[in-house]
Amino acid sequence: MNFINDLNYSSVDTETLSEYLNKNVDLAYDYFISQSYSEIKSEKKEIDQYIFQNLNVIKKLDLSERSNSTFILCLLEVSERLGFTLYFQRLYKLLLTADIQISLRLQAAKMYFSGMRNIADFEKVLYLILEKLEKAFIIEEDGVDKVILTVTKLYTTIIESFGEYNAEGVLKFKNQLKEAKNDFFFLRNETISHILAVDLTNSNSASGEIHEILDEFLKREKFVYPFSKGNFLIESGTEYSKNITSGSLSFATIRNVSSNSYRSIKQDSIFNSLGRGVEVLTSEEQLLAYMYGYGKMHFAKINEGFKKLPNDILDQSLDIIDWGCGQALASHSFLDYYSSDTPSQNIMSFHLIEPSEIALRRGALHLKSFDNKLNLITINKDLDSLKRANFRIKEERIKLHLFSNILDIDAFSLTNLISLVKTTFKGENYFVIASPFITDIKTDRIDRFVSSFEDKISFDLLANVDKYRGEWLNGWTMVLRVFKVNL
Ligand SMILES: C[S@@+](CC[C@H](N)C(=O)[O-])C[C@H]1O[C@@H](n2cnc3c(N)ncnc32)[C@H](O)[C@@H]1O
Repeated sequence: MNFINDLNYSSVDTETLSEYLNKNVDLAYDYFISQSYSEIKSEKKEIDQYIFQNLNVIKKLDLSERSNSTFILCLLEVSERLGFTLYFQRLYKLLLTADIQISLRLQAAKMYFSGMRNIADFEKVLYLILEKLEKAFIIEEDGVDKVILTVTKLYTTIIESFGEYNAEGVLKFKNQLKEAKNDFFFLRNETISHILAVDLTNSNSASGEIHEILDEFLKREKFVYPFSKGNFLIESGTEYSKNITSGSLSFATIRNVSSNSYRSIKQDSIFNSLGRGVEVLTSEEQLLAYMYGYGKMHFAKINEGFKKLPNDILDQSLDIIDWGCGQALASHSFLDYYSSDTPSQNIMSFHLIEPSEIALRRGALHLKSFDNKLNLITINKDLDSLKRANFRIKEERIKLHLFSNILDIDAFSLTNLISLVKTTFKGENYFVIASPFITDIKTDRIDRFVSSFEDKISFDLLANVDKYRGEWLNGWTMVLRVFKVNL
């Protein structure tokens, strides 16, 4: 990526940097946050140099500008990922002074990054840190990786700072971490077990060995490769598929089938393995747990979006694109929503895009159980791997894009997605975007997607709703954006 060079050029003074960020902060997000660990690690020297040389310019950015605060949050995140303790502290202070929301995980990192003089100081805050990390894993993070990174860095900081002079204290701390496995789900992870099994006799080599284990874990493939080829993948011949008889099965019916099956195998460990529901699922148990745990909430959220679409949307031919469809919950909910209008007639295609093959196949089964005649195109890919050629759409037909609980995920490049949409979907487009409220920085990412279409005269924002905990149903949160645009 040449991004860091461009950023360097644009950091001559605070005003130029602010102007650059206003147009390009998505690139910063893609670079610092969405890149995989191995990619970002290979750029460590350049990033270190950039922050070192430009900290004075960066410090003067006006943080009431969203793009500027997002940029500093990106730098804070990367400082933690790459272990830049000093930058982390400086940036954290800047954000705190400007009252910018900082994620729970970075709050936890802050607790051990500064002000600890002896091992007893760490012991005092250990449980507070772990509590923050567990909460981060359950409600904020896109998976377990970053919480494992933070807790491992805490452990290696202790080994490196005290291993030589206070081996007994370090051993005691290790045992406390081991015991904490009983109280914190995210610690019951194979990598943590490997890390805690490392012999501490020589603190230098122990710390190196632990870093290697962490590196291996963070560099692992996130998706099950190779993705399945072919335009039509559907679950068949399984016990579950036999329980689903076709014939206008509503989402609620399907959810009940899944939930009933889940009840017989219900376990915290299965449910917790979903993280906050954004993991790429690999087992049937997870599929059932997802429907049981998240089905009702996601159904309610996307339905709020459908209410904002024009009533006659089904009077014309329609292509529906369900991005990160999982088990096709959003498409299924759409069919339900218009079920009294016999919707299938004008729906020319459902494009189901999903990196988890098992979820995708089940999603196709769910839609076919609603109407066997539906034209389904299944695309087993992650968003970054999509190409124009994957889509069978026509300019003269309306394109309805469903982004149900996907735009708040960090694992893809927003810039690539915007460019793919703009070049592929000529003609009239509707977008329904529904996500939970996680953090300001994640909502900002959704808004940047929306605003990238605002320059078109035809752009029409049909809904812009934020609901925080306690402001909507059942303590659920909602970020809803619906818009129309001609491309
Ligand atoms: C919270 S679930 C939402 C699923 C579905 N849209 C719904 O509302 O139930 C997030 C989905 O995004 C998928 N996903 C994760 N990373 C992705 C990526 N990089 N590209 C596309 N999809 C991704 C996951 O496999 C998962 O199915």
